Amino acid sequence: MFDGKTACIVVVGAQWGDEGKGKLVDVLAEGADLVVRYQGGANAGHTVVTEAGEFILHQIPSGILHGRTICVVGNGVVLDPDTFFAELDALEQKGIAVQGRLYVSERAHLVLPYHKLLDAAGEKSQKIGTTGRGIGPAYEDKIGRRGVRVSDLRDPAALEGTLAANVDRANRLLQLAGMEERTSLAEHLALAERIAPRILPLAADTGLLVYRSLRDGRRVLLEGAQGALLDVDHGTYPFVTSSNTTAGGAAVGAGIGPTAIDGVLGVVKAYTTRVGNGPLPTLADDAREELLRQLGGEFGATTGRPRRCGWFDALVVRYAVRVNGLTGLAVTKLDVLDTFDEVPVAVAYEVDGERLEEMPCEVRALEAVQPVYETLKGWQRSTAEARTLADLPRQARAYLDRVEELSGAPIRYVSVGTHREQIIAV
Ligand code: IMP
Repeated sequence: MFDGKTACIVVVGAQWGDEGKGKLVDVLAEGADLVVRYQGGANAGHTVVTEAGEFILHQIPSGILHGRTICVVGNGVVLDPDTFFAELDALEQKGIAVQGRLYVSERAHLVLPYHKLLDAAGEKSQKIGTTGRGIGPAYEDKIGRRGVRVSDLRDPAALEGTLAANVDRANRLLQLAGMEERTSLAEHLALAERIAPRILPLAADTGLLVYRSLRDGRRVLLEGAQGALLDVDHGTYPFVTSSNTTAGGAAVGAGIGPTAIDGVLGVVKAYTTRVGNGPLPTLADDAREELLRQLGGEFGATTGRPRRCGWFDALVVRYAVRVNGLTGLAVTKLDVLDTFDEVPVAVAYEVDGERLEEMPCEVRALEAVQPVYETLKGWQRSTAEARTLADLPRQARAYLDRVEELSGAPIRYVSVGTHREQIIAV
């Protein structure tokens, strides 16, 4: 996608997350000088398969698997320090050198142990089905102006005051929620002392780094996490994550202006999945759902939870095209549909005899809709070996043509398996 006019690309999920962004970022990173994560945190899980083995990355951009790419954790991320270093150590153990290639925004907020306890406390009453990684409470603290940023590790005395107030507040909230667990200042001071010497050498004004890279003609990939329908503004609220997962969040979370972005690639599965609670209108019947789950390996990369599985929902993707300004689509996991004799696609919703062409705003309305399906013929042949569109069975091409037409953005990539080479550039 990079060319003379396109130096800065955002890659976003265009459904409910888990679309296979990690693989696309891995492939596109080959042409990128910088890869930047800009929102979310350890709730994300990108699985990338290379010759060196399988990597599940939660916070470090998957571009790290390319020897020369600089990777950045942007200011919009909420960073879980211990899991970040566990990931870093695992990469180094598998022979991936990260020295000098990884930066963390000094403005990024930290996810601390009390955030995880508060996440669990929130789930007792709200039942969003979060990943339990403390993401919501960390963003609450950020917006509430009491968060701890990476740069705060530079001033231990001031940090102690903030942590004491936050630990005290967290314990009161835990008591209110009827939780038995309590957190302690000592635990947090020990954590800060342990992580500061490792994290501060990586801390930088990463917005400036991205800005200068673009100014100097380098190519930058902004890597989104989760998906459009989990965006706190545009998603199926309240069953969403706590950040802006859509492309607008990329500018804010990477620390650059929106005019610096040249293109937005939306990643969609050839079908739909969702993990966590909240409506999924195109959920398949039990037998075919199980088949999709098994064939697609649809279990959460972060929590191992089984994902709910269903058919491609054109309303979801059309909506994602609009709210992200998508300039291209990458359709992943086409091969998972290889054995089906027919493949339904939702083209509209129906509620009380009325036809809906656009996503409703309220979850209750979305729970009440019936998808209107168009049934396309399956191809019942393996697509795993296809490397060009012409290699695909005719019915698979017809399926992709219909997906493109219904979505309103051109398909730029089709992925037919988990390996790097199993991708078709259109
Ligand atoms: P949280 O982000 O852990 O607060 O979870 C909020 C919602 O977003 C839950 O439904 C999660 O299952 C979902 N979610 C968060 N991260 C991901 C992801 O990377 N893929 C898919 N769903 C996610």
